[in-house]
Amino acid sequence: MKAGFYQFNPEFGEKDRNLQKVLETLTRATFDLIVLPEFFATGYQFTTKDEVAELSETIMDGKTVKALSDLSNEKSCYIVAGLPERDKDLFYNSAVLTGPQGYIGTYRKTHLFFEEKLFFQPGDTGFKVWDTNIGCIGIMICFDWFFPEAMRTLALKGAEIIAHPANLVLPYCPQSMPVRCLENRVFAITSNRIGIENRKSGELLKYIGQSQITGHDGQILVRASEDEEAFSIIEIEIEKARDKQLNKYNNLFTDRRPDMYNLS
Ligand code: ACM
Repeated sequence: MKAGFYQFNPEFGEKDRNLQKVLETLTRATFDLIVLPEFFATGYQFTTKDEVAELSETIMDGKTVKALSDLSNEKSCYIVAGLPERDKDLFYNSAVLTGPQGYIGTYRKTHLFFEEKLFFQPGDTGFKVWDTNIGCIGIMICFDWFFPEAMRTLALKGAEIIAHPANLVLPYCPQSMPVRCLENRVFAITSNRIGIENRKSGELLKYIGQSQITGHDGQILVRASEDEEAFSIIEIEIEKARDKQLNKYNNLFTDRRPDMYNLS
């Protein structure tokens, strides 16, 4: 399958403009799966709950999900994209999956980072995997990567490729994803943003770029630059994620000893 990411610099609050830019780029391209950054159309650094209320959307009626669903349908492709979700008077840092039939599902970020805790609810969906025509797709969002249980849970649920919308500001993720992928034998697409947001005095956020596609064997298949826009699509042999056998004697899943792990 052809899969990749779109790394760019969303302008805060310019939802229509950011969305239009993405739609134009995706319309011209050929791919089976594309992953967009966390909060790709709104920007990230919210300063008030009113801003969150104004820029968030319900999944079923919002224009962002509708536009992505329509594009997925027209191009017969899958898209994973991050957005602020409104559900009655609660807000979530969410990502949607759309496909050839339109909207498929939503994941709500489990591990909120920094000031997200001021505005968003911790996700309540759990880690979800969708069995699609192109393979089993699991989603986690940005800081979720810091918790090995997130990707392990997705892998144990059958994910073969992890779609990872991100707005990374800490430097550790690009060098850490190879281990996450190796220990689970899954592919991952981290779609990060670039640029700076400085909407709150003393709290400049500099996004690290370096969107990355990581192989089931820990190889870095593609890494984008720290500060330039990048649209990257590569061929992925997703079936390689299905075999968890490391050698004649070791299987990454059946060798696990949950009775020896104290995880609670
Ligand atoms: C992050 O979770 N946006 C760093």
